[in-house]
This record gives sequence, structure tokens and C-alpha cells, in this order.
Amino acid sequence: MTKEDGCTMKISDAIVYAGVYDRDIDLFEGQYPVPAGVSYNSYIILDDKIAVMDTVDARKTAEWLDKVEKALNGRTPDYLVIAHLEPDHSGSIQAIADRYPEMKLVMSAKALTMLPQFADASLAARAVSVKENDTLTLGAHALRFMTAPMVHWPEVMVSYESSEKVLFSADAFGPFGDPETDPWLPEARRYYFNIVGKYGSPVQTLLKKAAALDIASICPLHGPVLTGSLNEYLEKYQLWSAYAPEETGVLVAYGSLHGNTAKAAMLAADMIREQGVKATVIDLARTDVSFALAEAFKYDKLLLACSTYDGNFFPKMEDFLLHLKAKAFQKRRAALIENGSWAPMAAKGMKAYLEQMKEIAVCENTVTIKSTLKEENKAQLAALVNELLA
Ligand SMILES: Cc1cc2nc3c(=O)[nH]c(=O)nc-3n(C[C@H](O)[C@H](O)[C@H](O)COP(=O)(O)O)c2cc1C
Ligand SMILES: [Fe+2]
Ligand SMILES: [Fe+2]
Repeated sequence: MTKEDGCTMKISDAIVYAGVYDRDIDLFEGQYPVPAGVSYNSYIILDDKIAVMDTVDARKTAEWLDKVEKALNGRTPDYLVIAHLEPDHSGSIQAIADRYPEMKLVMSAKALTMLPQFADASLAARAVSVKENDTLTLGAHALRFMTAPMVHWPEVMVSYESSEKVLFSADAFGPFGDPETDPWLPEARRYYFNIVGKYGSPVQTLLKKAAALDIASICPLHGPVLTGSLNEYLEKYQLWSAYAPEETGVLVAYGSLHGNTAKAAMLAADMIREQGVKATVIDLARTDVSFALAEAFKYDKLLLACSTYDGNFFPKMEDFLLHLKAKAFQKRRAALIENGSWAPMAAKGMKAYLEQMKEIAVCENTVTIKSTLKEENKAQLAALVNELLA
């Protein structure tokens, strides 16, 4: 999905993109590496009345206010619509409110209770609280508001502009990366599972509301404006929120101290591929856990290979399993390979984590390697792969 496929920052003459691209940020939300940065999107609807749709992270306030001012062309905004109060979007509320003192702030009732945490309490006097299906008429354009609680904060709402059929979707459908050039899917997936993943059921509720709308464009708070055929995006969100895999295939994730477990993991991946099934191998010590998590959700099967470490197992693997559990990883098949020089314990430890997740079918076979891979281990790996793929 690129610009040519319908990703564009141009919406219409009346609905203008006013987002900013933060290419310097190292960690989004203090933990997710964003090698290609992230955009904080904002939009302006210019009609008899003017609505600014969300603000941006405090890292970009000045650049954003300049953009807004240019787009306004001497006019003054009547409304700031606040979809979400997380600081990447609320970070410039105070600044724009100070600049345009007549502007009203439109938000959900829940957002109104939380607003004083992100701006001066005095702003509440300028707030308009809206509820499900309330509309705000701007002229030829009108916004209908729909709450989206726990996608992925409690105060979230989305807005639908009916004349141009635009859904302002808050964080939903937003990826990391350069909104103008990066493909949507990989970073939308990583954003979704790491940030929204735990909230599959609230996302399903939002998708049901969206299904009743005639949508021509989706304007998320990150990444490109989505236009053209929206089915691909909607289908991905449908699968993701149902915890259903996108593809048949195996994520082979390993943690290895001296490389022997890594060798076993790669050999197992080769065996998987020989059977015509896709396999992606990830070294958990060298790949950020957010990428591994997204790959795990993409496939229907997971193969974990890990060294024993101080009577337990390699901490990078434990961190990965902690993340999977926290993001409600479920409905998958899994297989285990362990390594240990005197008392291998890794499989037991990994299995204990998998048992805390819903509907993870762990293979009966487990391969135990004692330090280095031996011929008999290869036969065991083949049997494990056969069971996993059966
Ligand atoms: C700090 C440390 C702790 C370890 N703890 C255990 C242990 O508790 N039980 C065990 O069987 N092996 C233990 N090992 C040995 C490794 O699990 C073993 O050498 C294994 O072969 C490592 O696989 P690798 O070659 O993939 O790193 C430990 C190794 C290190 C460095
Ligand atoms: Fe957010
Ligand atoms: Fe966000």
C-alpha cells in the first residue's frame, strides 16, 4: 500500500491535512523503536465554521501551529475536535487554545473529565461535551461523533463527516513511519498489536459502527490518509481484532547464548520451508520485541527455541513471552526447543507462559539439546516440525 494505491495526504479543498512528521523521535511511547519516525496527524475542515481535528505532540507544537495558521488563511477556528488525549495528540491543546481564545473544544464526556490532566483546568469552560451520534454542523460539512472507548484509551471518539464520507478514526488504522512514502501494512500491524492489541473486543465494536457508514477516506492520527479501496485496511483490522492469523506460517523466535540454539532454530526453519510453509526467523536479542510480537500475530504458528539460563530461560525470551501475554496473544499452535548444558529448564518455563494464554496448542514433542546439536536432535527437530505443521 503506497501513494499509488490510494495513500495520499490530499483529502479535498475543504478538508486539509495539517499533520507533522517527527523523523527524529527514537522511541514512540517511550519503548517502540520508530526507525522511520512517526507522524502526528491533524486535519482542518474549512466551511462556514472551521474545525481543527486534533493537535500534535508537544515536540512539534511550533511547526504545527504554523501549518494551521497557513491553512486558516487569516480565519479563526471555531472548534478543536479532540478524539484522543494521549500526549502525542493532546500535547498542543494548550498552545492552540491560547492562540485562539474564542475556539471551543469538542470532546467526549470522558475526555472532558480527563482534560485537566493535559491542559489548564480553565479550558473546561470552553469545552463542549458530545455523546454518541451527536452532530456538529459546520456548513455544508457536518461531523457525527461516535465513541470508541478503549481503542485504546477510554475517552476516544471518532468523527464521521458525511458530505465527503470521511472517517476521522483516531489512532485506529494509523501506522508508524513516513506517512508519504512508507508502506502501510508492516508498521500498521506493529502499531496495532503493540499498542491496541489487548483491546480486540472494543475494536470489533468500533468496526461494527464503521460498517454502517459509507466511507470514502479514513483519516487516522498517524500515517497516511487512506482512500480508494478501503477493504484491505478494514479486513486487516477485522482479523487483528479477532486475534485471527493473517497467514499460514511460522514465526521461529529464538534466544541463544552461544549460537547452538540459534542453529537449531534455523535448521527447524529450513525444515518448515522444505514443506512449503513460510517461516520467519527472529533473534530476540537483536530484534526489538515489538517487531517479534507483530510477526507472532501475523502467523498461525509459533516455534520458540531457547537456552536455559540460571535455572530458568534466556531473559529476552521471557520478555517476548511477557509481551505476548500482555497483548492477549491467543488461538495459535506452538512448539518448543530448549537447550541446556546440565539441567535444561527452558521448555518448562516457556510452556508455563504459553499455558497462561488462551487457546495455545503446544506440541507434545519438545526437542531438548544438550549444548550442541547432535544427529539425533535433527531427527527430533524433523518430528517436531511435522507435528507443528500437521
Ligand atoms: C549465565 C548462564 C547461566 C546458565 N544457566 C544454566 C542452567 O541453569 N541450566 C543449564 O542446563 N544450562 C545453563 N546454562 C548453559 C546454557 O544453557 C548452555 O550452555 C546452552 O548450550 C546454551 O545454548 P546456546 O549455545 O544456544 O547459547 C547457563 C549459561 C550461562 C552463561
Ligand atoms: Fe494513542
Ligand atoms: Fe497516537
